[in-house]
Amino acid sequence: MATESRRSVIVTGAGGGMGAAAVRQLVKRNVNVLAVDLRPQSVELLKSELADAPAEVLPVAGDAADAETVQAFVALAITHFGRLDGVFNIAGVGTGEFRPLAEVQNATYDEVMRVNAKSVWLGMKYALPHLVAGGGGTIVNTGSHLAWHAAPTFSAYCASKHAVIGMTKAVALEYGRDNVRANIVCPSAMETAMGQEAAEGIDPEDPRAGWQVMIDQSANGRVARPEETAAVGVWLLLDAPQHVSGVVFPVDGAQSAK
Ligand SMILES: NC(=O)c1ccc[n+]([C@@H]2O[C@H](COP(=O)([O-])OP(=O)(O)OC[C@H]3O[C@@H](n4cnc5c(N)ncnc54)[C@H](O)[C@@H]3O)[C@@H](O)[C@H]2O)c1
Repeated sequence: MATESRRSVIVTGAGGGMGAAAVRQLVKRNVNVLAVDLRPQSVELLKSELADAPAEVLPVAGDAADAETVQAFVALAITHFGRLDGVFNIAGVGTGEFRPLAEVQNATYDEVMRVNAKSVWLGMKYALPHLVAGGGGTIVNTGSHLAWHAAPTFSAYCASKHAVIGMTKAVALEYGRDNVRANIVCPSAMETAMGQEAAEGIDPEDPRAGWQVMIDQSANGRVARPEETAAVGVWLLLDAPQHVSGVVFPVDGAQSAK
């Protein structure tokens, strides 16, 4: 059992590229992390890797878009760590079908919305009462460049990520007087499994050409590293001044400056 004086947060999608980077940075800063991912092995491996870190990784295998699961892991964070200071919602899926809207299956839309938008909704809904009861806390949700822009063949993904911005801003307004900050970090393409999936979707014949399309979108001639996006999220979670709330924070090599 961890000590109650150490801060504790929940990270979803913790076994993925950006999620694992966020967990590493958090525990090295002495913050306990309940690390949730659909893939059990990914978070178990993270626990082993970080066994000597100053804070604890508590791995949880589960669906961050399922209400009962989210209620259970929020309750576990409270009982195990004794307190909850924040949530970093990172779990997400790609579009899966790279086609114009009329050709995308309804089931694809439903699943992308369920994972990318509903998981964020649930993560906030069930954590907020604990954050308020504890005197305040922070929420960081993961958008995308496509949370405030668009790209052809990404309609369902765009819809899900635009929803993340809307609900996060609403929470920032609703809970400001409860000392809760809520912000959105918006990466451009990242060097992760999801980035690879996007490259293959953009150019199925030559994924390297797909990567090049994404590289050419930023001013510095490369895509984002998951550690960079995670670092901005961790700063928003732990360090940003109290007045920083309701903000869309791009990590995109100036892509959104165009
Ligand atoms: N990679 C990119 O190019 C890119 C660009 C912009 C935004 N993003 C966003 O950044 C976030 C992290 O993406 P990443 O690149 O690290 O992807 P990733 O595929 O490496 O990691 C995503 C993780 O989420 C987990 N996950 C998926 N569905 C889940 C569910 N229902 N419950 C719990 N866990 C679930 C996966 O198992 C995986 O470990 C996502 O929200 C993504 O939409 C990614």
